Amino acid sequence: MSDKIKIGVLLSGGGSNLQAIIDACVSGEILGDISFVGSDNPSAYGLSRAAKHHIPSFVVDYRTLIQDYKNNPEIFSLPEDFHLDTVRKKQTLFQRNAPGETVDFFLRSRALAEKRVLDHAKAHGFDLIILAGFMRKLTPYFIDGVNLDRNPPGIMNIHPALLPAFPGEDGYGDTFRYGCKIGGCTVHFVDYGEDSGPIIGQRTFPVSDRDTLEEIQARGLQLEWQLYPECIRLFAENRLRVETRTHDTGKGKPLSRTIVKIL
Ligand code: GAR
Repeated sequence: MSDKIKIGVLLSGGGSNLQAIIDACVSGEILGDISFVGSDNPSAYGLSRAAKHHIPSFVVDYRTLIQDYKNNPEIFSLPEDFHLDTVRKKQTLFQRNAPGETVDFFLRSRALAEKRVLDHAKAHGFDLIILAGFMRKLTPYFIDGVNLDRNPPGIMNIHPALLPAFPGEDGYGDTFRYGCKIGGCTVHFVDYGEDSGPIIGQRTFPVSDRDTLEEIQARGLQLEWQLYPECIRLFAENRLRVETRTHDTGKGKPLSRTIVKIL
């Protein structure tokens, strides 16, 4: 790795986390430059933020692509390096009893989209890809296309809840609905499941019964803007390693634990 790492960003929406990371690169907190911003959503405001800072961007319009594939699958060729059986075996996004047709359509249509994202990303170059409000699940096809057995892994995500609580699309909403007394956000490496990868950092905040959902979201985002640059800084300093440790409990089955070690 050279002195400054190249950071690729994927997002779907407003991009306030992107802004925090741009600011941290500009101030020198992160020894890095953003090499691209990619989006699945052509009208994401994050694309305008990228343009303002002269960062190259691209769009892979997932919604249109998936619809077109559904209507006319015969006009598409799946990527040559996509192997449905392998990806199906590796993924933990769906439970084992999920309908096979649903899973296979999902994996094929995402491979079409993910190949396009990967091609753009590789053309711009990156040492790390960060998901900053990217509201699409990534399959093992994409993840293996980035990771190549790297430690630390090459994709990070920020999630608006204290994982492993409330994975999925609406972390702050779930925190609000469950009447939690504490909310939080988590930065983790991306693995083959949904929001299930090794945890790099977390922040918490108190929630009172008078708080509105908007207040919880605002409080959480403030913490995200601190936490994400901190975790990316550690990556840029080459200080993160994933380790799986096994503890002998003396009661038969050993306890296994995967941690992100900060060097
Ligand atoms: C953030 O709260 C982020 O944690 C969340 O989307 C928001 C994006 O905000 N991400 C997810 O829910 C991922 N599953 P931003 O576009 O202003 O950075």
